[in-house]
Amino acid sequence: MSPANMYQPMGYILDLGGKRVRPLLTLIACDLFNGTIQHALPSAMAVELFHNFSLIHDDILDKAPLRRANPTVHEKWNTDIAILSGDGMLVKAYDVLAQSQQQHIGYLLPLFSKTGMEVCEGQQMDMDFETQEKVSVEAYIQMITYKTAVLLGCSLQMGAICANTSYQTQQHVYEFGKHIGIAFQLLDDVLDVFAENENFGKQIGGDIIANKKTYLLLKALELANPAQLQQLQALCQMPNSLKDEKVKQVTALYLALNVKELALNEANKHTSIALQHLQEIEADEVKKDHLKAFALQLLNRNK
Ligand code: IPE
Ligand code: IPE
Ligand code: MG
Ligand code: MG
Ligand code: MG
Repeated sequence: MSPANMYQPMGYILDLGGKRVRPLLTLIACDLFNGTIQHALPSAMAVELFHNFSLIHDDILDKAPLRRANPTVHEKWNTDIAILSGDGMLVKAYDVLAQSQQQHIGYLLPLFSKTGMEVCEGQQMDMDFETQEKVSVEAYIQMITYKTAVLLGCSLQMGAICANTSYQTQQHVYEFGKHIGIAFQLLDDVLDVFAENENFGKQIGGDIIANKKTYLLLKALELANPAQLQQLQALCQMPNSLKDEKVKQVTALYLALNVKELALNEANKHTSIALQHLQEIEADEVKKDHLKAFALQLLNRNK
């Protein structure tokens, strides 16, 4: 398709795969409420296209060199191309969503647009926090809820809408996804520093290099003794030319302060809230158990 510089990156990022968590959630939710799977396919495609659009732009914002174990779009091509191919994928997401069943579109569209706007807001908060000295845990949770968690909630709710489920049930499935999503992002922050497997696929320590206000950094700033605090603050000022040293020293401080465990505890809290919402849902118990197992597997991932 022409211009190739716009369409090739779209094929590139999609062909790199990824876990495809969000479309799976859409299809699982549709099936949970005994809907017709085919009716949820446009929503499933739309959420994955939107997600991939957000990743291309996220990698520009985060100056990330690697995505899914390959060069990011802006590295392989350039930033202009990454912006435009990302834009194209966002438009395509709406294009496929419009192929949903007529009776669902009026519900799907506002949800998808609200969620998309929140993702952008969360991304802006994430960028603002890089240079903000004090960020509260509440503000951090709000930021990750928007940039990551609402899209998981939306993915599930869209599947529920396509299965003609009641609004109350949709709300529970949305909240389930949102809290799984909060736990998902907390784990993403942990993996960014501590992923051990070679096929993690992203640059280890990218969040440290960019001074991201992750849960790990917030807790480290809170728990550090005066000497550690001074060291941490100096590390945050370190120039990019010393990034390997910065990652090494910040990681050592995280280990000394046990912040990884605290992040995982916070993730577990949100997993429990998610499971409470799942309990409120009236559906086949075997199917509910499958959804639960799928969610727990996501929170046990290594990439
Ligand atoms: C990465 O999402 C961005 C976050 C919200 C943490 P995934 O971890 O789902 O990425 P892929 O799609 O599997 O590559
Ligand atoms: C990503 O957060 C959120 C969105 C893409 C909207 P991160 O910046 O932590 O995601 P990764 O780690 O690059 O995948
Ligand atoms: Mg990123
Ligand atoms: Mg980011
Ligand atoms: Mg990350």
